[in-house]
Amino acid sequence: MKHIYLDHNASTPMAPEVVNAMEPFLHQHFGNPSAGHWAASPAREAVDKARAQVASLLACRPTEIVFTSGGSEANNQAIKGTFYAGRARGNHIITSVIEHPAVIQPCRFLENQGAQISLVPVDGRGRVDPEDIRRAITPQTILISIMHANNETGSIQPIAEIAKIAKEHKISFHTDAAQSVGKIPTRVDDLGVDLLSVAGHKLYGPKGIGALYIRSGTELEPLIHGAGHESGRRAGTENVLLDVGLGAACALAQKNSNYENIQALRDRFFSALQEKFGKQIVLNGHLGERLPNTLNVSFVGRKGYELLPILEQAGIAASTGSACHAGAVSLSPVLQAMGIPEETGIGTIRFSLGRNTVWEDLQYVLEILS
Ligand SMILES: Cc1ncc(COP(=O)(O)O)c(C=O)c1O
Repeated sequence: MKHIYLDHNASTPMAPEVVNAMEPFLHQHFGNPSAGHWAASPAREAVDKARAQVASLLACRPTEIVFTSGGSEANNQAIKGTFYAGRARGNHIITSVIEHPAVIQPCRFLENQGAQISLVPVDGRGRVDPEDIRRAITPQTILISIMHANNETGSIQPIAEIAKIAKEHKISFHTDAAQSVGKIPTRVDDLGVDLLSVAGHKLYGPKGIGALYIRSGTELEPLIHGAGHESGRRAGTENVLLDVGLGAACALAQKNSNYENIQALRDRFFSALQEKFGKQIVLNGHLGERLPNTLNVSFVGRKGYELLPILEQAGIAASTGSACHAGAVSLSPVLQAMGIPEETGIGTIRFSLGRNTVWEDLQYVLEILS
């Protein structure tokens, strides 16, 4: 059976360069980076190099990078860490209705500890209006957390504009960049953020590793207390193997991420879908301000949760934004927040292309869909 993988926003395969970089740390270099002897040096140097590679992609200092167990931990660290460090100054956090659960749920958790959460809306294309954020600010606001790009629609948020507002009010600004790092530029000074989350498995690195960029001077309480690893910001012996993998993935993304080709393929695929299905195809998300690999479309008159198994049977991996439980249809919170009508949203399929996607794969998908 053919295997066509169009679910790169869920996870990516590890790049061969990443696997090669990790290999010596499976077989050879086992030392504890904190030790003082010969076995420690290769591990310590590898962690330093990996940190520098992540920092280079984000155009920040290596000392501003903390390794985490993934995007979820980075988000939790940013949100809870800011709240615990800043509680004396205020308790208000602003985020948006389309954030990943790894942002929404830490906020919900903090509500039980006295935090006040404001969720700003998005427009029909899935974008936040910076003026809504300005209006939501109160003297108690200590954090704004808005994702860089949405995982379902790929819509890119006006991060630099929001950063200006946050700065004017001296409020920490976090962005969940799990989907954007490696796909579009994510230099922290261009974005103007104080905190930025990275997830390794979205950019051809390993699963279970991520990073949090912490602008120097940003107050943050650690989530994990213990010995002084990661400059006292995250205790625990470093995950040398996965740190090396994330570093290699970042270096590769910086060298060549091939997203112009991916975007061209995606747009050609969308045109072909429109040609074949005409008005039965509706694009969800912003036409231009969108991740280059993401195509979220509704097949009007169809049901995504029925289409997906047909694609799966043909060996095509994609995802849907609708579900049916016990006869009740539900759209994803993101599609709901965008105001997508149920009769359109129910037919949603997300195709997310990757570095190895070729036109023949997409032609095959077209055949199966027709
Ligand atoms: C936007 C976004 N944030 C956070 C995460 C969580 O990252 P991880 O799986 O590394 O915990 C994901 C992954 O699905 C994501 O798409």
